[in-house]
Amino acid sequence: MSFQIAMAQLGGHPIYVKPEDIGGIGKREPIKDMARVLERYASGIMARTFAHETVIELAKFAEIPVINALTDWSHPCQAMADIMTIREHFGKLNGIKIAYIGDGNNVARSLSFGCAKLGMKISIASPKGYELDKESIDKANQITSGSTNQMNSPQDAVKNADVIYTDTWVSMGQETEKQKRIADFQGFAVDAKLMSLAPKAKIMHCLPAYRGFEITDEAMESENSIVFDEAENRLHFQRALLKKLLS
Ligand code: NVA
Repeated sequence: MSFQIAMAQLGGHPIYVKPEDIGGIGKREPIKDMARVLERYASGIMARTFAHETVIELAKFAEIPVINALTDWSHPCQAMADIMTIREHFGKLNGIKIAYIGDGNNVARSLSFGCAKLGMKISIASPKGYELDKESIDKANQITSGSTNQMNSPQDAVKNADVIYTDTWVSMGQETEKQKRIADFQGFAVDAKLMSLAPKAKIMHCLPAYRGFEITDEAMESENSIVFDEAENRLHFQRALLKKLLS
C-alpha cells in the first residue's frame, strides 16, 4: 500500500503484480527473463519476495532500479522508515540505543546495518537458536565497532534503551514453524513489565503486530508507542526513495 500510494502521489502509475498473475515469480519463467521484459516497460521494480536471491537476480538482469521491499534476509525500506521516525522523536540519531526483542530476522538485520551506519547502537535479545547470524553481526561491527550486540536476555537488552523494538515471531514463509516458534519465544514479549525497565523508551514495531505474542495490547497502545508514526514514515521514506531512483 505504502509503495503504491507513494508512486501515485508522485504522479506515477503503480501496477501491482500478484503471484497468481505470473504463475509465481521464477516458476513459470526464469526471473532473468521477467527482469528483461519488465525493464522495457517500467521505470522501476519494487519487489517483495521470500527468497533474497530473487531480488538479487532481478537487480542483476534489469537495467532499471530494483527496490527490495522485503526479503527473508533484509528489510531496508522498513529500517529507513524506522530511522526517520527515531530522528523525528529524538531530534538526533547519534548515541541512540535500540533494544530489539525477538527474532534475529530480516528486520533485525537491516536495523543493525542502519544503526552501524548512523551512529546508533542496537542490542538484540533473542532466544537461543534465533539470534542474528554471526556474519551479519560482524558486518555491522566492521562498519562501527560495538554497534550491534547479540544477547539472550530481554531484560539486559532494554537497559538504557531509548527504543524498544519488536517484530513477529513468525515471519512470512515460516508458518509451518508457528507452534514451535511460539513455544521457543516465551519470555520475549514486549509487555508492561519489560517496559518498566526502560520507562522512557519508545515502542516500535514494523507491523503487522500479533498482540498477545511478541507484544501486548498495552504496549502497542501505550503513550510511549510510536508504531503508527513509524508506519506513516514508510510512505514518506519510500516516496523520497522513488523520487531519487526514478527521477
Ligand atoms: N519479519 C517480518 C516482517 C514483516 C514486515 C516478515 O518477514 O514477515
